[in-house]
Amino acid sequence: MESFTKVLVACEFSGIVREAFRAKGHEAFSCDFLDSEIPSSYHIKGNVESFLWMNWDMMICFPDCTHLAVSGARWFKDKLPQQKEALEFIQTLLYCKIPRICLENPIGIISTHIRKPDQIIQPWMFGHNETKATCLWLKNIPKLTPTKIMSERLAFVHHTSPSKTRWKERSRTFTGIAEAMTSQWGSIQ
Ligand SMILES: C[S@@+](CC[C@H](N)C(=O)[O-])C[C@H]1O[C@@H](n2cnc3c(N)ncnc32)[C@H](O)[C@@H]1O
Repeated sequence: MESFTKVLVACEFSGIVREAFRAKGHEAFSCDFLDSEIPSSYHIKGNVESFLWMNWDMMICFPDCTHLAVSGARWFKDKLPQQKEALEFIQTLLYCKIPRICLENPIGIISTHIRKPDQIIQPWMFGHNETKATCLWLKNIPKLTPTKIMSERLAFVHHTSPSKTRWKERSRTFTGIAEAMTSQWGSIQ
């Protein structure tokens, strides 16, 4: 039985997860301060906090990790106010009234300040030859089951050359993970 779900893909500029859900018939919308890289009338440009009250069945969110990830740890002591604000945003997302939530972020201070993730996944579990430990905090959603384990595992994403758009190259959701989210979470009741 197919069920159609209203999905908010929060903090997504790429459109990858939105399009994966729409391809399966779900009413998915992305939301970001930036334009969507895949132009769409199903992209909301703005602050996602203004749209959390709406009648969504599920939210998958990719909040900015700049002030939260361990990769920036050497600057932690200089950015306590930014960290506080970033953690408050994470809490707003995690504790909003949407019944099913997945929040994605790299390994970082969410684990120590809010709670540990429910799952840590890698792109190589979903058909990509890359390593990038990615934490998932889940509310009323099952853990993702790996779909295609790859034996060749390279840290490609970390070796992208410096540029103004490097953060985008490093943060786009892997299509294999988007596909797994759609096929495994698209029909949960
Ligand atoms: C790490 S990127 C996520 C990229 C995502 N995985 C994708 O494939 O597009 C974080 C994004 O969160 C967005 N963002 C941060 N705070 C936001 C807010 N309050 N409302 C909407 N978007 C926000 C940023 O503009 C940025 O594009």
